[in-house]
Amino acid sequence: MRDRDRFYKHVREEDKKIFSAISGELDRQQWGLEMIPSESYASRAVLEAMGSVLNNKYSEGYPKKRYYGGQKYADITEQIAIRRAKSLFKVTHANVQPYSGSPANFAALNAVCTPGDTIMGMDLRFGGHLTHGWKVSVTGKYFNSIQYTTDKNGFLNFDEIEKLAKKHKPKVIICGYTAYPRVIDFPRFAKISRRVGAYLLADIAHIAGLVAAGVHPSPVGHAEIITTTTHKTLRGPRAGMIMCNGNPSDPLKPVKNPTKKDLPTLIDRSIFPGLQGGPHMHTIAGIAVALKEASTKEFRDWAKQVVKNAQKLAEIFNTRGLRLSTGGTDNHLILMDVTPFKITGKEAEERLDRIGVTLNKNMIPYDPRPPFDPSGIRLGTPCVTIRGMKEKEMEILGNAIANTLESRKNIKKSAKIVKELCREFPLYKNL
Ligand SMILES: Cc1ncc(COP(=O)(O)O)c(C=O)c1O
Repeated sequence: MRDRDRFYKHVREEDKKIFSAISGELDRQQWGLEMIPSESYASRAVLEAMGSVLNNKYSEGYPKKRYYGGQKYADITEQIAIRRAKSLFKVTHANVQPYSGSPANFAALNAVCTPGDTIMGMDLRFGGHLTHGWKVSVTGKYFNSIQYTTDKNGFLNFDEIEKLAKKHKPKVIICGYTAYPRVIDFPRFAKISRRVGAYLLADIAHIAGLVAAGVHPSPVGHAEIITTTTHKTLRGPRAGMIMCNGNPSDPLKPVKNPTKKDLPTLIDRSIFPGLQGGPHMHTIAGIAVALKEASTKEFRDWAKQVVKNAQKLAEIFNTRGLRLSTGGTDNHLILMDVTPFKITGKEAEERLDRIGVTLNKNMIPYDPRPPFDPSGIRLGTPCVTIRGMKEKEMEILGNAIANTLESRKNIKKSAKIVKELCREFPLYKNL
């Protein structure tokens, strides 16, 4: 029996169709290079925790304050996850119950705003997330959403941000992005937020692992509220967290005349009973394992290499004549205009898919093209770095990507190179 068959033994025996889908996905991940910057590979320990019997338990409420009995191990699990989140990110309060990044963001806004309040976040087309007030998201419907953009070169435009903040006096300013390749200046955001009396919300979903490893500055001490996903650079299960500093009190009791010190309680109450019911304790167990992994030297070395790899790729794309938003990268991702090669983002995504490189088409700042066929692509290095690749491999991969974008004729040769890299740098060993 193969290792894979043993790992998925029961689903294999009981449900051949789903086993076949899992197995197909495993092969897709093993034999292709994942370069979507919001993805990573959870360890087998994380996957095991998520596949555990903790799934069976209802635990509405918070540790020691639950609405159901039988909480001994659920409480232990959630308390460990909270303790590790607090210690890793150096905050006094962490809520590990958000089902994912989007509900975490809505819950964070709901904690301090009432419908109709003004919020301010980055425009989706410039790298913001849907939940930062984009018009089709509830965050753009329930709140009065003001959106900021970048300058022509793709950098945060602080003059515009300050002007908009002074004019609209938002209750919350959101920073932290989905497609921004540079360091976020949290102190500068904090200065603007304080000046207009806004809460600063840092959504570090993309860079959480880099922040934990110290390769991107932390928003702690600058942003009052920090939201994140746990499945991107943090390498954990698909979930979210909200962190802040302040005095936690009883999350099941409403706070009268809340101040900033009451943020922990406001956030906890916004998640439950405000927005969610029972926490997904198996996922919280996975978060706990991922946070333990993220506090190791091995993880910090990986995060450093993620940035080095992205910078090496950026260097290669620059020398090959592709146009990079902001000219390069400080983090795990690259946003690149492919039109100098006379193709569009959609065509680039399709061509790269054929060589076994998965990434996504993406708008670039001030993109003249439509969102379904934009000028650019977005790619990142968390996954290839987990596989063990370094600058040497980035040079090979970067040139294979550039060759493919340059001419369709290079597809076959590039596909061979990608296959070889997959063989040399396996993902889950023996699976
Ligand atoms: C900056 C940012 N925040 C929040 C989210 C939402 O996370 P989820 O997809 O888990 O809801 C994303 C997802 O891409 C993101 O990039």
